[in-house]
Amino acid sequence: MEVERVQAIAASLSKCMDSIPAEYIRSETEQPAITTVKGKLLEVPVIDLGGGDRDEERVVRMVEEAGREWGIFQEEKEVYAKDAESKSIEGYGSKLQKEVEGKKGWVDHLFHKIWPPSAINYHFWPKNPPSYREANEEYAEQMRGVVEKLFKWLSLGIGLEGDEFNKELGGDELVHLMKINYYPPCPRPDLALGVVAHTDMCALTILVPNEVPGLQVFKDDHWYDVKYIPNALIVHIGDQIEILSNGKYKAVFHRTTVNKDTTRMSWPVFLEPPEELEVGPHPKLVNDDDNPPKFKTKKYKDYVYCKLNKLPQ
Ligand code: SIN
Ligand code: FE2
Repeated sequence: MEVERVQAIAASLSKCMDSIPAEYIRSETEQPAITTVKGKLLEVPVIDLGGGDRDEERVVRMVEEAGREWGIFQEEKEVYAKDAESKSIEGYGSKLQKEVEGKKGWVDHLFHKIWPPSAINYHFWPKNPPSYREANEEYAEQMRGVVEKLFKWLSLGIGLEGDEFNKELGGDELVHLMKINYYPPCPRPDLALGVVAHTDMCALTILVPNEVPGLQVFKDDHWYDVKYIPNALIVHIGDQIEILSNGKYKAVFHRTTVNKDTTRMSWPVFLEPPEELEVGPHPKLVNDDDNPPKFKTKKYKDYVYCKLNKLPQ
């Protein structure tokens, strides 16, 4: 079956058209025009990772540039398409999870792993631009260092030894899954969403967006646009860290909006435990009296299966 790409739908709608297919119109409880707090941008905490590492900035720019160039190779994308039967998340696609009420997100995506080397499947890596492979390998390399620091700080922050988060989440086997989100212009950005509201199921997400705003965060019972900060990495706490910390760290509930005239792109890297690894509340953070475990311990692959199929955890 031919999969309809959002990019192709966007391209087929004439510039002056003021409508979108019904399956992209969200319910009134989701439409951004109705549910977003107006006139206030959420300023999420900005953390300087220190060291003034110019090299890292260069790498971030390289990936951003490679992704941007890649975005125009429309025909070639189908070469990397996932087939409908594929169980693997890797490849080019337009649908990720079971859709709620048949509603679709205004976004196409490409997934491929960038670390550890043994998990990489170059089949899903775009061949163009030719610098894509090198840029991604270097980005993965640099990301290792950032992740190491973040895990250490998160671990210490909660009263554990510095290496405990890393150990519990897979250590050297921690999977780095790159996603490229492509949000084409949308004639009715007031009615549609890019990515529907969710928390990330991984441990941590490190994301670089292009300069087009679109990320929204749910805070104090309301949806807010997040202020765009040039050159900043956006870090989301995901479900596995919420679980490991027994709820002390909260997975951020977020979604994305789209724009009438501009294409938004983002490059999250999901840091995931290896699929067979069991993750649960850290034993040092639970006790029978006043701190019972708030989450079940389960293999990451089982967690993912339940979440994507909207089954109880
Ligand atoms: C996502 O949550 O998958 C996308 C976030 C973004 O595009 O900023
Ligand atoms: Fe997300």
